[in-house]
Amino acid sequence: MRVPMIAGNWKMNTTVSEAVELVSEMRQGLDQIDNVDKVICPPFISLAAVKELIKGSSIKLGGQNIYFEEKGAYTGEISPLMLADLCEFVIIGHSERRQYFDETGEITNKKVRAALKVKLKPILCVGEKLEENEAGRTEEIVTGQLKASLAGLDYLNGLIIAYEPIWAIGTGKAATGEQANETIGLIRRNIAKLYGKRIAQDVRILYGGSVTAANATELINQPEIDGALVGGASLKAAEFLSIVKQTSEIRGR
Ligand code: PGA
Repeated sequence: MRVPMIAGNWKMNTTVSEAVELVSEMRQGLDQIDNVDKVICPPFISLAAVKELIKGSSIKLGGQNIYFEEKGAYTGEISPLMLADLCEFVIIGHSERRQYFDETGEITNKKVRAALKVKLKPILCVGEKLEENEAGRTEEIVTGQLKASLAGLDYLNGLIIAYEPIWAIGTGKAATGEQANETIGLIRRNIAKLYGKRIAQDVRILYGGSVTAANATELINQPEIDGALVGGASLKAAEFLSIVKQTSEIRGR
């Protein structure tokens, strides 16, 4: 049985004091919800303060990125080791990083390996652009991203995959449950080809892209979807709580 996960990607939002305020608003409510892994991914500079606040609760912490080197002269970067000290998870290969920071499959692969080496669990993002979707290239693109990011890895070791169609991110136009389920099923079949059926059955695959309290149930009800990576809606305590609660109710049945 795969434990569902709802992860909040705060992206480049909230100052440290705003992050503290937001976590304080959702801490108690989130802590009380069972059957779901609840992860929040605030900006780097808020991680230590947030970690302190969620101490003793069931809420888990993730980073939004890492550099792949362990340490050294890389001004401005955060190493896997530094993050592993604070977090259990790290988002890798988000489409915003691929698009604005030129992250290639090769870089994503290095980051995934570097994270796993220090026992950080990557939340590896894949997803196609609108024009690729319209040209019927979703399978080719997503499979290519998966293969590039996982190249040379013999095991997944707790890695999580997030299918995030780029046309759905921040647009208010989420994939339908059926669409997301279909592509996530395809991702799982690809994982089975690469790693065998057992690992494919165990790997958690989330959907991301305009998930809200209004569409969460439709998405989570799909058999292949193991949860969500939530952007905008994770910045509103009540909305994020509602998404987590709906997930718990569906999966706890
Ligand atoms: P969104 O972002 O929920 O704001 O669409 C999702 C993501 O980018 O992870």
